[in-house]
Amino acid sequence: MLSAQVVLVALFLHASAASADDLAAPGSPNMTACSGSINPPVGCVTIPIVSDSCFNFVGGASGLDKEVSWVQVPAEYACTYFQNFGCLAVEEDDHATLTCGIWNMFDVLVPTASGTQNFNDLTSSLSCVRSGSAASDV
Ligand SMILES: *[C@@H]1O[C@H](CO)[C@@H](O)[C@H](O)[C@H]1NC(C)=O
Repeated sequence: MLSAQVVLVALFLHASAASADDLAAPGSPNMTACSGSINPPVGCVTIPIVSDSCFNFVGGASGLDKEVSWVQVPAEYACTYFQNFGCLAVEEDDHATLTCGIWNMFDVLVPTASGTQNFNDLTSSLSCVRSGSAASDV
């Protein structure tokens, strides 16, 4: 009898702890970047989006520096990919902004002096902001 009560209390505490964890991060959005392919995922990292902050492919993420071939931008966000670290845009061809969806960087074209170039294997940093349907938040 006593041990059954202890088990029930333990289950209750466990359930409470789990729902507290769920509330801690209520679906914070992520973007995905892959060096190989996105479906199936090969060489992918999931990057939590912190709006307006710059993510650099350094440290643990340095394996994807100048290796990104696929990205997924979540709904209601736009992400800009930069050839420079520090999300530094200098020329028209050194960054590309993409809206929600799955993108093959071979198909992402930026204007250059002599035409266009694709953005495969060029990204060193990125930055995402809320876009589009943000009107409902205002
Ligand atoms: C983003 O990733 C974190 C950690 O993997 C996860 O807990 C969270 O649910 C993800 N957010 C979305 C919107 O999928």
